[in-house]
Amino acid sequence: MKKKYLLAPGPTPVPEHVSLEMALPMQHHRTPQFSKIFGEAAEGAKYLFQTRQDVLILAATGTGGMEGCVTNLFSSGDKVLVINGGKFGERWGEISETYGLNVVWHNVEWGKGADAKEIESILAQDKEIKGIMVQASETSTTAAHPIEALSKLTRDRDDILLIVDGITGVGVFNLPMDEWGIDAMVTGSQKSLELPPGLALVGLSEKAWKFADQSTCPRFYFDFKKERKNLANQTSAYTPAVSLVAGLRVVLQDIKEEGLDNVFKRHNRLARATRAAVQAMGLAMVAPDSPADSATGVFVPEGVDGGKLVKSLRDDFGVTLAGGQDQWKGKVVRVAHLGYVDTFDIIIAISALEMALKKFGAKIQLGKGVAAAQEILLEAY
Ligand SMILES: Cc1ncc(COP(=O)(O)O)c(C=O)c1O
Repeated sequence: MKKKYLLAPGPTPVPEHVSLEMALPMQHHRTPQFSKIFGEAAEGAKYLFQTRQDVLILAATGTGGMEGCVTNLFSSGDKVLVINGGKFGERWGEISETYGLNVVWHNVEWGKGADAKEIESILAQDKEIKGIMVQASETSTTAAHPIEALSKLTRDRDDILLIVDGITGVGVFNLPMDEWGIDAMVTGSQKSLELPPGLALVGLSEKAWKFADQSTCPRFYFDFKKERKNLANQTSAYTPAVSLVAGLRVVLQDIKEEGLDNVFKRHNRLARATRAAVQAMGLAMVAPDSPADSATGVFVPEGVDGGKLVKSLRDDFGVTLAGGQDQWKGKVVRVAHLGYVDTFDIIIAISALEMALKKFGAKIQLGKGVAAAQEILLEAY
């Protein structure tokens, strides 16, 4: 027998009561009963996004929500600034180029957050830039970008949008859409929302809806104006992911009950505990200056093959963490702490990491990381 633990940055574990809700008999989506569920989920999503605007619920993964932002807000030839600090920043640029947008790539060293001052000077020199595309949490590097500072550069201008991939940020740390003036924000169901993959949620500001009126990119399935019209009738343009929406309604009720502030505090505590643990173990964090509260990445010690380590953690220890991507393949391990994750999940992750590293010959004093995490995790009790 081997018990399995899922501590990767998505998909994340699904709570039992949410699984049970999604296991209820299938229902038809064009009914008053389902419309009520859809409407409640959409209301809950506004609370999550901290917005008075509509939040669209799409049957897609997060990337679908990102693509929809590009095709609904811009036109071929429009100039956009893509903050590229990892795999997902790269994705913003790839999607934009696919639709003929004129991408200004702003490369940020992996593991670092963007410097808002640099972005400010780019915008000052180029008034044609109509959008900034960025990750709140660049999951591939575990670094956070400074969304509040970036929002100050765009919120008082009506000719530029701030588009935030909040896929591992929303419901993890504070991203108050209306207060900061974020124009478009995307999340996916399989991260902090404690659901299986398959839903993308997208919130748009009034300014963004005005851009949507001007956009001429080709689109069919991801037609935000069509979705918004349907949302007014508590439904979606096409068949919604019925079971996932039923689960979403429950998760959003849970989040409201816990309170967003408490949700953020919990994630922050788990993140701080994980950071303290890896530092106590003598590991170097990959994003020490601007770590996101969603996941913590570390470089594996010299002589350890990170790919084999992650595989052994999964297959021998039963603990699924994530490895590094691209330039960090085989060099990095990422411990996720978002979604349905609490104190003892962190203990398991750290304890397994210590044991696996020792097995792989790294100099590790067992229990040192766990003890450091415990000191912080105890704050909750
Ligand atoms: C920051 C970020 N953006 C985009 C994505 C892509 O989302 P999906 O795989 O749901 O399309 C992910 C997934 O891990 C992510 O973490």
